[in-house]
Amino acid sequence: MSEQNKKTSGFSHEKVETSNFWLIVLTLLTVAIGGLAEIVPLFYQKSTTEAVQGVKPYTSLQLVGRDIYQREGCYNCHSQMIRPFYAETLRYGHYSVAGEFVYDHPFQWGSKRTGPDLHRVGGKYSDEWHRIHLNNPRDVVPESNMPAYSWLEKTPADHATIASHMTALRKVGVPYTDDEIKASTDEVKGKTEMEAVIAYLQVLGTALK
Ligand code: HEC
Repeated sequence: MSEQNKKTSGFSHEKVETSNFWLIVLTLLTVAIGGLAEIVPLFYQKSTTEAVQGVKPYTSLQLVGRDIYQREGCYNCHSQMIRPFYAETLRYGHYSVAGEFVYDHPFQWGSKRTGPDLHRVGGKYSDEWHRIHLNNPRDVVPESNMPAYSWLEKTPADHATIASHMTALRKVGVPYTDDEIKASTDEVKGKTEMEAVIAYLQVLGTALK
């Protein structure tokens, strides 16, 4: 190395690169600034914090269905996030946008796709198709390896906790009215878990078709 190249001015890189302390501190600082610059604006952007036109809070029955979706771990095999790539939009429809998930607490994006993405499955099949499929997927898709969920049809939907669930969601910004919360228990009473899950599946992604 020539004498010229060795010359460094003021605070040299060498000092940083040979000190564990400074290298760690300055790396973390740089990454933090980059991260904050990307993430913080999202909290204030309308496109990520406001519902897309047509997106409504889940009805009481859909919400119960959503709970069952989580309880049964459907997200272990199904994502709800269509990426903005041609192959994805060709298969599933419009890619997912942030404003479609503002009432999802927690969101069900997932990442594992043993089965297809479900974000726009709403309206794709009839209720009856879903009923047969959930009872035994092989009755409609012979090569399917999805488990059967035949007990859903025999299990009453949980109407006892729905009002408090909606009240809790209202605290985090889902605009349920008092009347909606009051009516919820009766709306769910007498319904089966199968009906609730289907109600949930049928609304998925329908706002942006
Ligand atoms: C072990 C993985 C696995 C689990 C868990 C699972 N699925 Fe599936 N699912 C699949 C596979 C694979 C397919 C594709 C074959 C078929 O249609 O049955 C599928 C297909 C579907 C479809 C049809 C999608 C389409 O566009 O054709 C729906 C709806 C569905 N699943 C809902 C559910 C629900 C609701 C649950 C939870 C109660 C669930 N799945 C749990 C693997 C799974």
